[in-house]
Amino acid sequence: MYNVLVIGSGGREHTFTWKLNQDPKVERVFCAPGNGGTEAIATNVNIDIMSPEVVFDFIENNKIDITLVGPEAPLSIGLVDYITKKGHRIFGPTQYAAQLETSKSFARELMEVRNVPQPAFFTCSNIDDVLSVKGQLGLPLVLKADGLAAGKGVIICMDDSQFENALDLIFKEKKFGNASKTILVEECLYGEELSVFAVCDGEKYKIIGTAQDHKRIYDNDKGPNTGGMGAYSPTKIENDNLIKDVKKRIIDPVLEEMKDRNNPYKGFLYVGLMISPSNRPYVIEFNARMGDPETQVVIPKIKSSFFDMIWHATDGNLDKYNLELDDQSVVTVVLAAEGYPENYESGNKITGLEYLEDGFVFHAGTKKENDGYYSAGGRVLNIIGKSQEIDDAIDNAYTNASKIDFAGKYNRTDIGHRAKSK
Ligand code: AMP
Ligand code: GLY
Repeated sequence: MYNVLVIGSGGREHTFTWKLNQDPKVERVFCAPGNGGTEAIATNVNIDIMSPEVVFDFIENNKIDITLVGPEAPLSIGLVDYITKKGHRIFGPTQYAAQLETSKSFARELMEVRNVPQPAFFTCSNIDDVLSVKGQLGLPLVLKADGLAAGKGVIICMDDSQFENALDLIFKEKKFGNASKTILVEECLYGEELSVFAVCDGEKYKIIGTAQDHKRIYDNDKGPNTGGMGAYSPTKIENDNLIKDVKKRIIDPVLEEMKDRNNPYKGFLYVGLMISPSNRPYVIEFNARMGDPETQVVIPKIKSSFFDMIWHATDGNLDKYNLELDDQSVVTVVLAAEGYPENYESGNKITGLEYLEDGFVFHAGTKKENDGYYSAGGRVLNIIGKSQEIDDAIDNAYTNASKIDFAGKYNRTDIGHRAKSK
């Protein structure tokens, strides 16, 4: 029997915890810092996850056998390197390997070496460089802060006024701070987005699922970007040939390149793609972790042991792991606090949770008190719908969502619209 430490506090981490808890090999799950949902099924520990020394002490003192890192921030400061050097087992990429997410120019340049399909790009360090790219390529262009910017560092410029506003935001207002010391200017891609998730052991990998998410706050993909307002799996756009293409032209060469650089990639790899109208995949971005809320629709479809998967992956033995996937459709609708992604209220009582069966709600920003659960973040809950057909899974998710209430509850009403059969 093993003890597991899950790092993070969102819906993704509640999903990991829920799945690990069902595993006969797992004795105890600890969550740092966790949320209201993880507190109900595991042990929350309020430690500083950005301090590798603190995490190490916790691992030692609580006989943790494996640590699973959810979010990118601890990866970006080398938590995995530190804990591994100290002789403990931890699943996630090293600081170097996590640059696939933490530095957009690192990722683009690495892909260029291996001819991975991606948009034309230029790395710029000042406004004159950006203006010169615009002179060369014209509009539309996509401007990106090179570093981590909580999913908000991308500006799509379709016309001159958007382009000028973007330059003001980046160079005058310095909205992205240090993340925009380097600016990436990219050709604008068109098509439909698809996310592909792989578990990687440094050499081998397995695709554990695919999903589409809804990044904008309002219906019909309007309004500002958020962390994600809902997701579903499977999608209409994927097929075996497309996935073969993604493996051969994107994942294989990237993992080979990481290995050649003596930094084999271990961890989850999130491949964010634009599928062109001619059905060819281009890389929009990589993330060095699972997506949130995509995890909430990918992990429930794994029938085999999730614990064995991460255990074998840390050993470089993924070939010994028999991945079994369910072919049902899973949908998640995010219930957010009104005002998210800007200012929102916290501390509102959540009602109706008792009407949802186990596995149909994953908490994000919640807090458990003696008399129930309260909102404690912008994205509050992930409500799940499941069925064989995606249309029914969508209906199931919305029926479930209607049972829950809290002051200022907001959700999109069109999650999964692209996948619907009618
Ligand atoms: P990211 O923060 O890198 O996930 O980008 C946010 C969103 O911006 C993506 O999900 C895409 O919708 C869009 N995006 C990023 N790069 C491009 C590109 N080169 N062309 C078109 N859309 C893009
Ligand atoms: N849902 C997008 C992400 O996790 O980056």
